[in-house]
Amino acid sequence: MRLILLGAPGAGKGTQAEMLMKLYNIPTISTGNIFREHISKNTQLGQEAKKYMDEGKLVPDELVIELVKDRIVQEDCDNGMIMDGFPRTIPQAEAFDAMLKEINRPIDAVVDVEVPDEAIIERMAGRTVCPSCGASYHKLFKVETVPGICNECSTHLVQREDDKEDTVKKRLEVYHAQTKPLINHYEAQGKVLVIDGVGTVEEVSARVKKALGVN
Ligand code: AP5
Repeated sequence: MRLILLGAPGAGKGTQAEMLMKLYNIPTISTGNIFREHISKNTQLGQEAKKYMDEGKLVPDELVIELVKDRIVQEDCDNGMIMDGFPRTIPQAEAFDAMLKEINRPIDAVVDVEVPDEAIIERMAGRTVCPSCGASYHKLFKVETVPGICNECSTHLVQREDDKEDTVKKRLEVYHAQTKPLINHYEAQGKVLVIDGVGTVEEVSARVKKALGVN
């Protein structure tokens, strides 16, 4: 199963990716998490990406495309993968189409998780993340067992630098201008499943599974 998760920042892509990863036993490729790993290791790529991420802008296409090209041919992607946060621009989608064609592994579905901007701003204000494993929590909707500590790897949780309200608004602008057009791109391929992303995590997961034909 090869899936793309589309949706605004904070729409719940990472949260649904976690559920799908367990369901299909395939990896999630989150370009945002890959960049955050590079930032925490202070690599050259991390330093370059941070300049854009902190301002709520997209990292230049060429950097992202190279990274994904190398990642999708790794062995753990043989049985499928879930793309979380890539592609995000038309040039990225066209490059991804070409990469998949070359390895003869087409996308099965594009899951578009729809959440209104006002709800997104509220969600981001309550989010904390694990800087080590990338797990995401929320003070109201997904509370960790021990306050401030990751359930998966016991690391101290932090707030993402780009979750400040002004940066979230900028990210939403960028989403509407550059990422939303991807829905038409994939609708032309007959691959889009539109999911209402408002409701509890469990309700949204149930809608995603139903759309994918899973009981
Ligand atoms: P990235 O890390 O991809 O961030 P994003 O797309 O902005 O997505 P988020 O991780 O913020 O949100 P999400 O949809 O995964 O929601 P989540 O499940 O966490 O990218 C960050 C930056 O990296 C970009 O701005 C860009 O600079 C750069 N970048 C990355 N990829 C790039 C690319 N391809 N090209 C160029 N630049 C790139 O949920 C959010 C919160 O809500 C959580 O607290 C969660 O617990 C909670 N929640 C989830 N579902 C629900 C629900 N149903 N009800 C209530 N709360 C919920």
